[in-house]
This record gives sequence, C-alpha cells and structure tokens, in this order.
Amino acid sequence: MGFAGATSATTCSRRRFLGGLTALAAAPLLPAAAPRPARGEPALVEAHLAAAPAAVQLVPEGYPATAVWAYNGTTPGPVLRARQGDRLRISVENRLGEDTTVHWHGVRVPNAMDGVPVLTQPPIRPGERFVYEFALPDAGTFWYHPHQRSFEQIARGLAGAIVVEEREPPRVDRDLVWVLADWRLDAGAALRGGFGDFMDMSHAGRIGNTVTLNGRVPERFAVRAGERIRLRLINTASARIFALEFRGHRPRVIALDGQPVVPYEPADGVVLLAPAQRADIVLDMTAAPGTRHEVRDLFYRGREYRLLELAYSEEPALARRDAPVELPPNPIPEPDLSSAERHSIVLGGGMMGSMRGLPRGKAWAMNGRAGGCGEGAASFEPLVVLRLGRSYVLAIENDTAWHHPMHLHGFSFRVLSRNGRPSARREWRDTVLLDPRERVEIAFVADNPGDWLLHCHVLDHAAGGLTAVLRVT
Ligand code: C2O
Ligand code: CU
Ligand code: CU
Repeated sequence: MGFAGATSATTCSRRRFLGGLTALAAAPLLPAAAPRPARGEPALVEAHLAAAPAAVQLVPEGYPATAVWAYNGTTPGPVLRARQGDRLRISVENRLGEDTTVHWHGVRVPNAMDGVPVLTQPPIRPGERFVYEFALPDAGTFWYHPHQRSFEQIARGLAGAIVVEEREPPRVDRDLVWVLADWRLDAGAALRGGFGDFMDMSHAGRIGNTVTLNGRVPERFAVRAGERIRLRLINTASARIFALEFRGHRPRVIALDGQPVVPYEPADGVVLLAPAQRADIVLDMTAAPGTRHEVRDLFYRGREYRLLELAYSEEPALARRDAPVELPPNPIPEPDLSSAERHSIVLGGGMMGSMRGLPRGKAWAMNGRAGGCGEGAASFEPLVVLRLGRSYVLAIENDTAWHHPMHLHGFSFRVLSRNGRPSARREWRDTVLLDPRERVEIAFVADNPGDWLLHCHVLDHAAGGLTAVLRVT
C-alpha cells in the first residue's frame, strides 16, 4: 500500500514516494507552546510565535524533507492551550522575507486583535514583532494563521491549533488535536509554486496531492480498546474539503467550529469538514484488541483514499465510559429573529459563471463587487453597515458552480436554513459551507464593533474577489 495521505485530487503525484517505504509513520502528537494552565482563577497565558522558513519531514522517513514556512520550526505550529475566561498574550515575530499577521480564527476578539493587515493593524514587517492580547470568551477548538497573502502563507505551512478548555471539561481518556493540511508537492517532496494561479482561483482553489495529519503523512493511529477519545479535527487546507469516515466506529459530533451542538451521529458516520471548519467528536473505541480500521476521506467522488488506520493495541479493553458527553453552551447572544434586519449577499463568478466586468486578476464577486486587495478591487469599503447591538439575518446565495466555505470574522452565527428549509441543528458556526447554487441563512447579534471580513476560506477565492467587509458601528 502507498502512504495513505497521498491523493490525486488535482495533480497526480500519488505514490511517488512509495519506492522502498518500509517504516510506518504513526500519527504524531503536537507540541504545546503554552503549558496547560492549572485549575482555578483565570490566568494570563503567554506564548511566543516566530514565523520563519524551516525544513520539516512531511512525507515518510527516507524521503526528502520539505522546505516550508513554520511557527517555532514546526508545521502545524504549537498548540496554544488555555481555559475559558483566560487571557492569551502572544508575541509574534516575523522572520519571513515578507509581511505577515496572525488571525485567531473563530475566537471572538476585539477588532484591533483580529490580525487583518491594513483593515485592523499595519502588517508586521520582516524583523518586527507584534503583541496580540485578548480574552477567551468561548471554550472550544479554534486555530491561528496569517492573514497576509494567506493563499500562500497558509499553504506553505503557517497554521496552528488553539484549544480553549471548558472550566469543567467532560471526562474522556484522551483529548487530541488532528490538524489536517493539504500540500501540493512535487516528486522530490518540495512544495510546488504557482501560488495564486488563476486556474486554481477560478476553479476549486489550490487542492494539493498530499494530506498530512499534525504535519506528517499518517499511516496508523494507535488506540486502545474501550477508550474514549475527544478528537478535535481542524481543516487548515487552502481548498480541500474532507468527508471523514471512521469505518466500524460511530463518531458523535459534540461541537462545530468550536461551538457546542446537541450531540449527534452524522449521517453514514461521515464527518464533513470544509476549509477552516472544525469538528469536535467523541470516538469510543468499541472494536476488539489487535484489530485495524480505516479512516477514509470520501469527499471527492472517484478520488476516495485511506487517510490512516486506527490500530488497536493487544492490551485488554478498558472499562467503557457510557455517560453521554454534552458540552455547556458558550456565552453568545441569541439573535432576535422577530426584529432582525435582513440583508442578502449573492456570490457570483468563477469558471462556468459570469466573470464579465470583473477587474483584472479577479474571478469572483459579492453583490457584483470583487473584494479584497488589488487593482480595481472594491478593497475595504464596507459591503453592509450594521448597527451595534442589533440582530441580523444574512441570506447568502451561491450563484456559482463551486463550493464556498464562507467565514465571518468576529462572530459566531447560527445557521438558520438551507435552500429555504430550516437547518436541523441551528448550529453555531464561524464558517458555513455553501454547495453550488445553495442559499443559506445565518443570524447573529452585531455585538462586536469594527470592520470585519466575510470571505470564502478557499484562499484563492478570497484573493480572487470573494471578500467583503461588514462594518459594525
Ligand atoms: Cu481563517 Cu479570514 O480567516
Ligand atoms: Cu476568522
Ligand atoms: Cu469559494
């Protein structure tokens, strides 16, 4: 068998590293930058992140290392771990050859800490530092990444997990983070260039050919019969959507994008993760000692592949934990739908759509305007102005032939409906996946003042025009 994470979604270099592959790579665990805080009073948790070039072993031992950009020398960067109510203070040092910033995806931060260059802060120049500091209102699974040329900087390896523990975390045997990433590598395991390519931009984005879990192409994941694992799945890919099937197991979803949901078993046991989305699942290891079970990614039809195998040790089963796990809600204000003001946002453009009238280098538009930076783009003029404290419903209509995971900064929103039908779980999210031609309604209270981005998290789409600013004033 080949190494599992190698797929052939757009460029076909599958099995190029296969040759003399003998050692199996176990899925690695991530280092932590911030120590797990002790119980008790809210704490100030400090960490340092240095963004710099690094060489890391993404593909199995015996094959070349890959030149990437990394936080503190690893990709993903260290896990930032704190508890709900704590403050995080992170000094970011830019040792890249270009500007950068850090955005705290999904964390409801004050606008000045949001990490969007020009809009919320000047970019951090090479050799400079910037100190971010904010409170953590919500428990959950979040992540950090640059917001400067993110279609290149994230794709080169700059991303990491943020775990905000509940004050009373549910009892599990292990609480683990799986950071999924997708790379476009050549036969020598080097990153291919061509970031921001117009073909990628106007189609599905830069989908790669090699999937890593916590920075390595995984082969197997060691588990013990009877144990209960809380898995925090994070999709940091530029464009790849995952549909993970845990064969022989019944994952229960307990949170989406960091926000608790009434626990449910997803249809067919498949956990869907669009770019930037997270899912916390409870996985009970119900199979027998010594057995193996595949975790497969089924999203792209005809290009399904095995991500890894759950490998049960021979040890006797632990006593099962049967108590249901349900997370307490986070303190998000509930939108008042009876008084909510409504706005509609139409996504247009892309291949097989109308790109007429768009500025050079742009392939997409929101309400007819190509947003983001660049010549002729609407730039940072607000698309919609919202009044502080008011409830809003945004109807987002995908008038294109492509998928778009739409992300709102500064807020979590409720997903109210899809194509006019009430959504089953009315889940809180910060990134909602729109299928081609789908219409989704979301609702939130505009309780956080400032200029906030609403953009597609297929990063080439965001750069290609699917970016807008919502001003809350
Ligand atoms: Cu995860 Cu605007 O970003
Ligand atoms: Cu964000
Ligand atoms: Cu998109």
